[in-house]
Amino acid sequence: MDKVIIAIDGQASTGKSTQAKKIALYLDYVYRDSGAYYRAITLYLLDNDIKFDINISDEILNGINIKQTYKNGQFSIYLNDNDVTNRIRGYRVSLNVSNYAKKPEIRKFVFNQLRKSGKSNSLVVDGRDIGTVVFPNANFKFFLVAEPRVRAERRHKQINDNSVKVNVVEEEIKLRDETDSKREIAPLRKAKDAFKIDVSHLTIDQVYNIILKKIKSDYIKN
Ligand code: DC
Repeated sequence: MDKVIIAIDGQASTGKSTQAKKIALYLDYVYRDSGAYYRAITLYLLDNDIKFDINISDEILNGINIKQTYKNGQFSIYLNDNDVTNRIRGYRVSLNVSNYAKKPEIRKFVFNQLRKSGKSNSLVVDGRDIGTVVFPNANFKFFLVAEPRVRAERRHKQINDNSVKVNVVEEEIKLRDETDSKREIAPLRKAKDAFKIDVSHLTIDQVYNIILKKIKSDYIKN
């Protein structure tokens, strides 16, 4: 039987990964965090002093082996068998990842990893271009958006540093929306057939119930 693919795309800080994990757990599907692949590759290249402004050869990419697991509510990612779950969220990777994520050879690498997973597993994948580029034929596509202010407040809480002002975070988020949606490679945009949810004034459980209801009702229709 063909595997089922559920794509959860959307703006930064809208809770895509939280929702994707909950849905994967409920349906007993495999969860894949596409951003985490870009982060792990970035970590490898930074550690090996490979700059983003050169072509990343197949020889280099063939030396990168990434595994993701999601067990008992715990997401882990391994880079050449080393657990890098925490390191990929660090400042150095966060600062550099968008430069590496722009590169076509790196996008192709992540694309191939996700496609390979989808051949043997039903998946819930979160990202930016999952429903538009990676799995244009995904069975279910969701696109999460929220007002910049709401996302800024959320991000501000995560940063947990009172010297950083919410207004500054909000401006950064607006700028990132602009660059994410205007970039040439895999711009952030809603797939025509994606179901858009504005999560600004919804709780995590409310969003989860909307997604689940939509999946269940479409299953019955098809
Ligand atoms: O979601 P995140 O912050 O972990 O994503 C890390 C980076 O990867 C971010 O710069 C956006 C990029 N990304 C992407 O270009 N395409 C995806 N499908 C997922 C993430």
